[in-house]
Amino acid sequence: MRQLVRQAKIIGTGSYLPEKILTNKYLESIVNTNDKWIYDNLGIKERRIAAPNEATSDLGSVAGMEAIKNAGLTPMDVDLIIVATSTPDRLVPSTACIVQDKTGAYNAVCFDLAAVCSGFLYGMSVACQYIASGVYDNVVVIGADTFSRITDWRRRDCVFFGDGAGAAVLSHADDSEGFLAFRLYSDGRGRNIFTVPAGGSELPASSLTVKNRQHFYQMNGKAVYDTATKVLPEVILEVLNDSGIAVDDVKYLIPHQPGINILKDTARIIGLPFRKVKTNMHMYANTSAGTIPILLDEVNRAGDIDKGDIILFAAVGSGWTYGASVIKWA
Ligand SMILES: CC(C)(COP(=O)(O)OP(=O)(O)OC[C@H]1O[C@@H](n2cnc3c(N)ncnc32)[C@H](O)[C@@H]1OP(=O)(O)O)[C@@H](O)C(=O)NCCC(=O)NCCS
Repeated sequence: MRQLVRQAKIIGTGSYLPEKILTNKYLESIVNTNDKWIYDNLGIKERRIAAPNEATSDLGSVAGMEAIKNAGLTPMDVDLIIVATSTPDRLVPSTACIVQDKTGAYNAVCFDLAAVCSGFLYGMSVACQYIASGVYDNVVVIGADTFSRITDWRRRDCVFFGDGAGAAVLSHADDSEGFLAFRLYSDGRGRNIFTVPAGGSELPASSLTVKNRQHFYQMNGKAVYDTATKVLPEVILEVLNDSGIAVDDVKYLIPHQPGINILKDTARIIGLPFRKVKTNMHMYANTSAGTIPILLDEVNRAGDIDKGDIILFAAVGSGWTYGASVIKWA
């Protein structure tokens, strides 16, 4: 999508992070890793872990409710709820329907969207289509994940992820404001780089899949690094070009949080000073679909975005899925 027929803007944001903090120091005591390596390579100090009675929908519902309130709406004003997640409460039904019941947004149509770490970006683009066509006015996009539930805590790659959720309410805007452009890409040839092998139709859950620990994610970290540092700069430059915005005019890049060095490389390649790149992975690690909306909510609530500011979003995730977007804050 490059141009929107009816413009869409963000009118409210929210987020929720579970209380429990897991530090790098603690991980040193359970796997062969160390705080210095994690911080130097990934920029992570600690992450949040959902309580045993907290599912992805619980995180997403709190974030969604906050965003609805922040937008000055009530749950019954919501036309559509999209939950971007790779860690749904259950295979069936959708987490979005569970969020609907927990928030009381009973007028909304609800569905989940699977694009892993790019899920929130994809979700905002879907929301914009419905708003542009005039079908819906108020769309809640939630990015929520509990990767602690698919992490093998016996392996040292348990350092990467944390649990959390963020949300935004999108609504229609005046012609010259709101989302200016999106670029989304997918490349299924990368489908085995980051995967959870079992628990789906290809390899249903069995005692053998549990014994082989195939319900946890498996990742080729080097391939993620190489792809991310190639596609993120490319897609950001494309979307800036589409919207006629110069990199110097960007106030902030609010990116997915895969690791600090990926973001430093990306900023250097596109010529954006790193101080304009927002990060929070030191506190929350990679919350997958939650990263962008959690960060957006922090920046928004801190009062750091003014009307007319140009904000960039960018993400890369398993699939591969990746993309970028530019918004003129309204
Ligand atoms: C993970 C990453 C930092 C690893 O960098 P790398 O140079 O490719 O690392 P390697 O796996 O070859 O390991 C190099 C050394 O780093 C150290 N190392 C790797 N993982 C480690 C960990 N979790 N803890 C401590 N040390 C670690 C080891 O010393 C290792 O040497 P060894 O294999 O001889 O023990 C880098 O690939 C990366 O940032 N990838 C992106 C990951 C990501 O974003 N994941 C989220 C999915 S969206």
